[in-house]
Amino acid sequence: MAEPSFYGHERDDARADWGVDSPGGWGGGYGTGSGAGTPGRSGAGSAEQGGIVEAALLGLARTVWAFGVELSGLAVLTAPAAFGAARGWPAAGGVGSGLLLAGLLGIGPVRRLAGRVLHEAMTRRCWHRAVRALGRASTPAWRGGQVSIRTVTPRPVGDVLEVRVPVGGTVADLEKAAEALAVVLEIRQVRVRRDTDNARQARVSLIRRDPLSAPAPAWPHAGAGRLSLWEPIPVGLDEDGQPVTLTLPERNLLLGGEPGAGKSAALSLLVATAALDPSVRLHLLDGKLVELAGWAGCADSTAGVDVEDANLLLARLRADMDARYLSLLANRARKVAPDSGLPLHLVVIDELAHYLLNGERKERALFAELMRDLVARGRAAGIIVIAATQKPQHDVIPTALRDLFGFRWALRCSTPQASDTVLGAGWASQGHTASDIDSAHRGVGLLLHEGGQPIRLRSHYLDDPTLAAIADRAETLRRTVAGVRTAAGVARSRGVS
Ligand SMILES: Nc1ncnc2c1ncn2[C@@H]1O[C@H](COP(=O)(O)OP(=O)(O)O)[C@@H](O)[C@H]1O
Ligand SMILES: [Mg+2]
Repeated sequence: MAEPSFYGHERDDARADWGVDSPGGWGGGYGTGSGAGTPGRSGAGSAEQGGIVEAALLGLARTVWAFGVELSGLAVLTAPAAFGAARGWPAAGGVGSGLLLAGLLGIGPVRRLAGRVLHEAMTRRCWHRAVRALGRASTPAWRGGQVSIRTVTPRPVGDVLEVRVPVGGTVADLEKAAEALAVVLEIRQVRVRRDTDNARQARVSLIRRDPLSAPAPAWPHAGAGRLSLWEPIPVGLDEDGQPVTLTLPERNLLLGGEPGAGKSAALSLLVATAALDPSVRLHLLDGKLVELAGWAGCADSTAGVDVEDANLLLARLRADMDARYLSLLANRARKVAPDSGLPLHLVVIDELAHYLLNGERKERALFAELMRDLVARGRAAGIIVIAATQKPQHDVIPTALRDLFGFRWALRCSTPQASDTVLGAGWASQGHTASDIDSAHRGVGLLLHEGGQPIRLRSHYLDDPTLAAIADRAETLRRTVAGVRTAAGVARSRGVS
């Protein structure tokens, strides 16, 4: 027998979970979309009337169910008035209902809670209506029936739903229907992300506003006195308004994008973190000379536009890396860990292309080789390389070097091809391209890191006074820590504990 479920999906015992071809499909409205339980057309007259009454009752029941939250609220509010009227104290009942209403509107937390509950109920209704409308229009190839909502979480940019697709459907089908759902909902975008552990579950973002059009809020670590490069670094907010973090140890990062897209600004968040970790050895290579100049007081070594200087710096680092591997071998360790006593090295290169395109051919080739070796072998030795460049195409950066970078961050690019040179081939054709970023939205980009799929985000921005203040703090911290270390060393050498 057919069993009606609310929100218009008809369950047939034999095909309940499939919903395929069940009468009405996803197509029923709150008040009308039935067919379930309707007797066959052979019996005319009274049987048909009975069917209409049944359908009307079913429609009414659906509407009551769909507006259950609102109706329950109304029932609670009017209960004292109704009770009073029944007992012959209408005035007292009215006062009771009035007090409840005043409490609801007048007490801030209660009012906000009620607002959230009503918003969630409305979002659920809209979602189910949209899914049913698509079912009617047979838009998606997927005809899996009801997509149930587990949770609704309001975000600054819209709502995030945790949903379950019905058996017989797949999240991929829901993804295909995303654009059509956005049309029905008349919102900016519907984004679907499958749960990596459960194929039946997905996270659906109903994006109502351009989430990245406004600058990201201040960097949460802007006022920090001391940080650790081993910890995740907050770098921006994603389209759901959620923080995006980057964990650098054992990783290398390549940033690309057109001039003015926000590469150096993004780099500065990572450099600031390293500077505020006094155990980190900072090495700065600045093809533009001015971008990293503010951090020179925190750096162990620096190189400007001269490729030979850059090569000397990298060669020293390589020697250090080889020594580290010997030390790890002696200690039967395979990699540098937070407790191994070996500091992390952060090598920051702004305008990487400068070193690969300028200077003598031999020097350029040496630079490419030293870089390749550091990026290829440096990770376990605690050497992290982060490099920013405009277009990392193969005639600028050898692919043997580019492909070694595990993390990619594409700021605005002029073409999908340019975006793919940063993120890796194939992402643009899957809809992940930094070429569709509005040029006015500086700092918006796509970050490809742990998640496996590029995340669109807007990075935090540190203006010049904030950068200078952090650099001052970091220099003082480093001096203090170095002073303490020296004093401890002198005391040890004199036999004082
Ligand atoms: N995340 C951001 N939020 C707001 N503005 C930004 C952001 N990133 C960069 N900008 C603006 O864009 C300008 C250029 O950024 P920059 O990092 O120098 O670009 P690039 O290094 O890619 O040439 C900055 O001076 C700043 O005004
Ligand atoms: Mg720059």
